[in-house]
Amino acid sequence: MRIIAHLSDLHFGRVDEALLEPLRLRVRELAPHLVVVSGDLTQRARPSQFLAARRYLDSLPQPQVVVPGNHDVPLYNVFQRFFQPFHKYRRFINEDLEPGFCDEEIAVVGINTSRSFTWKEGSINAGQVAKVRAKLFGGPANVAKIIVTHHPFDVPEGRDENQLVARAEMAMKVFAECGADILLSGHLHTTHTTHSAERYRIPGHSALIVQAGSATSTRTRGESNSFNVLHVTPGDIRIDRYTWEPGKNEFSHAGSEEFSRASEGWHRK
Ligand SMILES: [Fe+2]
Ligand SMILES: [Fe+2]
Repeated sequence: MRIIAHLSDLHFGRVDEALLEPLRLRVRELAPHLVVVSGDLTQRARPSQFLAARRYLDSLPQPQVVVPGNHDVPLYNVFQRFFQPFHKYRRFINEDLEPGFCDEEIAVVGINTSRSFTWKEGSINAGQVAKVRAKLFGGPANVAKIIVTHHPFDVPEGRDENQLVARAEMAMKVFAECGADILLSGHLHTTHTTHSAERYRIPGHSALIVQAGSATSTRTRGESNSFNVLHVTPGDIRIDRYTWEPGKNEFSHAGSEEFSRASEGWHRK
């Protein structure tokens, strides 16, 4: 069994400072095998914000898989936005924009879906999909295959579908060939779990699409700050949601969803 803490949308520069220590304590207490951060580490991609994010990441358990979000690309500095979009991210967070992690139970591939030209919207290209394929295709069946992006492959009903990753259909076909089990993302500042088969009708395949809310941003779209913890075994996945409880000054367990593996994908228990 592997425990993965999935945090997203930290937004240093616009964080609720009161949450930082309680979040750190809760994540450490959960003793995850891996911490995933699915982008938007900063609010405006400023050096001071990246430095604060770097220090915070350093205070969380290792190893980590971190990918950039659109807020980690400069928006108003046009030169940097178009010519050095990830210069500061690389300097402070990770030279590798698409890190991964692999052991005997999980294989995790990070993909950078953030772009300079379409600043808010995300995209995935054929080269990135080929990279996922090279890493995940043909791996052992009992290893859970997990893909991490900032932008989502599904949105809750009623939300703007422009927020979906561009070229998602093309990517999902390859993810299905690879037997992808879980897609982790953020961006919406909304917690949401669904089956990929509800949007992408690919025979014999259904991955779990798991959105984390914002862990520490003051922009929470009416939802409490939250993060997810996944417990992954070859046959079962449990997703625990932890939400900020100001009265208790802690992130508390707020609910769980459980899924089991069937021949055509993951079923809610
Ligand atoms: Fe965000
Ligand atoms: Fe975002």
